[in-house]
Amino acid sequence: MIFGASGDLTARKLIPALYHLFKEKQLPPAFRVIGFARREKTDESWRAELRAALDQFSRTKPVEDAVWSEFARNVVYCLGDLTDAAAYTKLEQMLNGFGDARLRKNLLFYLATSPSQFGQVAEHLHNAGLLHREGGDGWQRLVVEKPFGHDLPSAHTLNNELTRFAHERQVFRIDHYLGKETVQNILMFRFSNSIYERLWNRESVDHVQITVSEKHSVGGRGGYYEEAGAIRDMLQNHILQVLALVAMEPPVSLEAESIRDEKVKLLKSIRPLSPENVARQVVRGQYFAGLVDGQPQAGYRQETKVKPDSNVETYVAAKLFIDNWRWSGVPFYLRTGKCLPLGASEVRIQFRPTPNVLFAAACGGKLDPNALTLRLQPNEGISLRFNGKVPGTTVGVRPVRMHFSYDSEFGAYTPEAYERLLLEAVAGDATLFIRRDEVETAWQIVDAIRQGWGNKPLTNREFYAAGTWGPIAAEELLAQGGHVWRDPQPIK
Ligand code: BG6
Repeated sequence: MIFGASGDLTARKLIPALYHLFKEKQLPPAFRVIGFARREKTDESWRAELRAALDQFSRTKPVEDAVWSEFARNVVYCLGDLTDAAAYTKLEQMLNGFGDARLRKNLLFYLATSPSQFGQVAEHLHNAGLLHREGGDGWQRLVVEKPFGHDLPSAHTLNNELTRFAHERQVFRIDHYLGKETVQNILMFRFSNSIYERLWNRESVDHVQITVSEKHSVGGRGGYYEEAGAIRDMLQNHILQVLALVAMEPPVSLEAESIRDEKVKLLKSIRPLSPENVARQVVRGQYFAGLVDGQPQAGYRQETKVKPDSNVETYVAAKLFIDNWRWSGVPFYLRTGKCLPLGASEVRIQFRPTPNVLFAAACGGKLDPNALTLRLQPNEGISLRFNGKVPGTTVGVRPVRMHFSYDSEFGAYTPEAYERLLLEAVAGDATLFIRRDEVETAWQIVDAIRQGWGNKPLTNREFYAAGTWGPIAAEELLAQGGHVWRDPQPIK
């Protein structure tokens, strides 16, 4: 049951994901998809809309007519207002009308609505006898989208509202990064290979860089972005999740709670930032007009629904320390931004340099340190950089790389994040979803940074031209530690 079904998410992500799951016979034998929204539509008109969107957004093309027709028979529309108790009674009657007990009691509620409506939807569902605390007959689950609050107090309130009528185990908070194959692979890679895990600590690692760069601007999302900024839009969720997976301790098992326990423990060991440390360790940025891929791009302040003197950040970079036994003293540099030269997400583990003794003469006093790069998207893969002798009669040394590419190894098939996430929610496995304490701990980190920024306007060193790798202040952040950003590279 999708609440807020006429929104973009349903057409672009949810229906394409459900269509593919159906096509691959991964959905339960009996199922219905009910779209709930206020706009006047019939089952037929909604299906036609969804089909048009699927033709555009499907990851496999063309859409198979026979599969779609069979799938679409299970897709129905329910006209109703979220705030109206009668609409939920109508939903209940619709469910009873299906004449299959499983379709009446095993219910996944996808709240693609504004978070301010989560509480009342849960309450209405409960009052209509559609949502029961776990332990009754069948199962009911709530799936919620980000943004999950805008700071710790609001996230706390949302959590309280949701868990008034559902157990925490019934709440599935989405972070679509966790649905990505490459993000899931971080744990496999770390804990199924002895050679890397042995080096995964302060003895061997010099620093870690996590980059999530985007080429596109905020586009039509100016209104939302003015409230969010890069820190709430990307760092609070996607980047901290990647950081947690990269740096956490091995879980005691692959059970959802064991993995999530370790992630929370890791987030809790991030050294809290005082306002003075925010000034030293966190950089904001905002793009002004420039060229992206040779095309003119307006500045953020000129985007629709953005204030002409906005100080909202479209870029953020932070240097964090993890105060635990494994990582003490190792800087973790995180950055994300819009209108950067390339759209790519990467984790780079840079190992400590060798003593600069033997090859100093041959390589100008500087040997490139070894680095392992997990390329999360696009051109998914993993590369190891090491130094090798340049063939010839002199002692020339230069970096070379060993590369694993998902495409060449496994073929181009990668399911969309939402396919995996919807499947897991139906199966009741919460591993790839964010637990209450996890989301709240992440907000604590972000709130401290935002408090440090206060109402201070951006300075000159924090602006960057669209199409460049961010503000000068971000270069300086790394330079303090003798480091430089390693920018993701385009496909060769
Ligand atoms: C979303 C953000 O959560 O993630 C967007 O709201 C961002 O601003 C998007 O563009 C990035 O996701 P992906 O999967 O394209 O890396």
